[in-house]
Amino acid sequence: MAQNKGDIKIRRMVEGDLPRVNEIDRSLFSKGRVTTWPFSFENYWVVYRPKLRLVAELKGEVVGFLMGTIGKEERSRSMLSHTFRVGPLYRGNQVGWIDMIGIHEDYWHRGIGRSLVEVFQNECKRKNARMRINVRDNDKELKKFLVGLGFAKSEIATYRKQL
Ligand SMILES: CC(C)(COP(=O)(O)OP(=O)(O)OC[C@H]1O[C@@H](n2cnc3c(N)ncnc32)[C@H](O)[C@@H]1OP(=O)(O)O)[C@@H](O)C(=O)NCCC(=O)NCCS
Repeated sequence: MAQNKGDIKIRRMVEGDLPRVNEIDRSLFSKGRVTTWPFSFENYWVVYRPKLRLVAELKGEVVGFLMGTIGKEERSRSMLSHTFRVGPLYRGNQVGWIDMIGIHEDYWHRGIGRSLVEVFQNECKRKNARMRINVRDNDKELKKFLVGLGFAKSEIATYRKQL
């Protein structure tokens, strides 16, 4: 799962990385950025402890993270992914969800996000899984990043009504 690309090293996150990953996550929140997940990395970690947990190091310092899950589509966490996919053909499909991704702002545009997604993508390929990620529609930066990496918007949107 580890990958070295120039100065960037992608490796599995260990418990000792938690304070730094929390720090990166909090730095992104404090910038007033749109965050796809409405809760902090700290809470996410306590609840999910994802199997696919990656951090990116630049010259030995952790500067980014990507958390995800690969599983059968019908058991995947988001109900949105199988609202109309009830046929037997879809039952065995694997889907790799990127739950959270974050790079410290000081290290944006150096290929770190791309490197993290590539390692996650290799895991998805190995398990014959499609990749998915939920993004807020007003998160222009994350959307541009994903489109640049070859992701396309899927057909389902969420609607809500204020009461
Ligand atoms: C979006 C994000 C992950 C991008 O990480 P990054 O390390 O800067 O991205 P990279 O340098 O690997 O960029 C990869 C490609 O995406 C595109 N890209 C990245 N950021 C972009 C931006 N702001 N605008 C347009 N394109 C962008 C580029 O085309 C780039 O390709 P290239 O440089 O090879 O031509 C990073 O900005 C981030 O962490 N944002 C905060 C996300 C967040 O709030 N997460 C918390 C909850 S999910």
